[in-house]
Amino acid sequence: MRDLTDDTITAAVLSTMRDTKDPRLAEILRALVRHVHDFVRETGLTEQEWARGVDHLTRTGQTCTPTRQEFILLSDVLGVTMLVDAIGHRRSAGATQNSVLGPFFRDDRPYLHDGADISRGLSGTLLFFEGRVTDHHGTQVTDAQVDVWHSNADGHYDVDVPDLSEPAMRALLRTDGQGRFRFRSIRPASYPIPDDGPVGEMMRATGRSVMRPAHVHLRIVAPGFQDVTTTLFPSDDPYLDHDPVFGVKQSLVAAYQDHAAGAGPYGTTTDEPYILLRHTFVLEPASPTPGPRPV
Ligand code: BEZ
Ligand code: FE
Repeated sequence: MRDLTDDTITAAVLSTMRDTKDPRLAEILRALVRHVHDFVRETGLTEQEWARGVDHLTRTGQTCTPTRQEFILLSDVLGVTMLVDAIGHRRSAGATQNSVLGPFFRDDRPYLHDGADISRGLSGTLLFFEGRVTDHHGTQVTDAQVDVWHSNADGHYDVDVPDLSEPAMRALLRTDGQGRFRFRSIRPASYPIPDDGPVGEMMRATGRSVMRPAHVHLRIVAPGFQDVTTTLFPSDDPYLDHDPVFGVKQSLVAAYQDHAAGAGPYGTTTDEPYILLRHTFVLEPASPTPGPRPV
């Protein structure tokens, strides 16, 4: 391994990895080396450009804190998060598709009853949500755990709303005997992804929008079914076709129906106009666990 050239160095690096014990690790590392070397050759990367890239990645790491993950954000805006998701969760036609989990999920959310007001009194346009969880045949999935979380009318999640002493606009609910879950809250707004760090710099350098279309996040977990981490977007949002993290799918775009004050859904009454959002979530059966080989 001497006198390596730009033509021979890739094979030399690959040959140093031949004793890797884990075959999957070997496959991933070999592909990584091949692709990174090809990228350097294809672009004719200069030393200054290489140093700038190293600096960018260094600052990406330095921007991470226990509550901010700039590397995942980088993966999101490069489309890698949704690509990994697409490969790992190929859903059949009609099943609810996944979208980006995002950084605002919290596991200290309150477990609330059917029909609860999850806004905790924050102001905004009243929103009623009626969800149903079924399997492929339309049969209800009962006792599924449904996490919901969303932003306020200014595009802020509870963690970024000053003076909030408890979680708001988020809850853990359970489907009832008919597979339904219901809550009321306030209409979420579009908001920018965190753009005051290295990812924001890259977005500005490439002239990209940092605005996510408004959305409600949901995560549904039920025994015997694949978990679903998804998002519903209103059909009138101006940012649907420019989502910086590539999470919009047509099947997740839902009409927010406007209603006048008066009778609300499921026997409620309201003295203010409201939006009604209804959606059915279709779960895929969990992949069968491979059993012992027949002898
Ligand atoms: C979100 O929807 O909460 C989100 C997703 C990816 C990056 C930033 C925010
Ligand atoms: Fe979000």
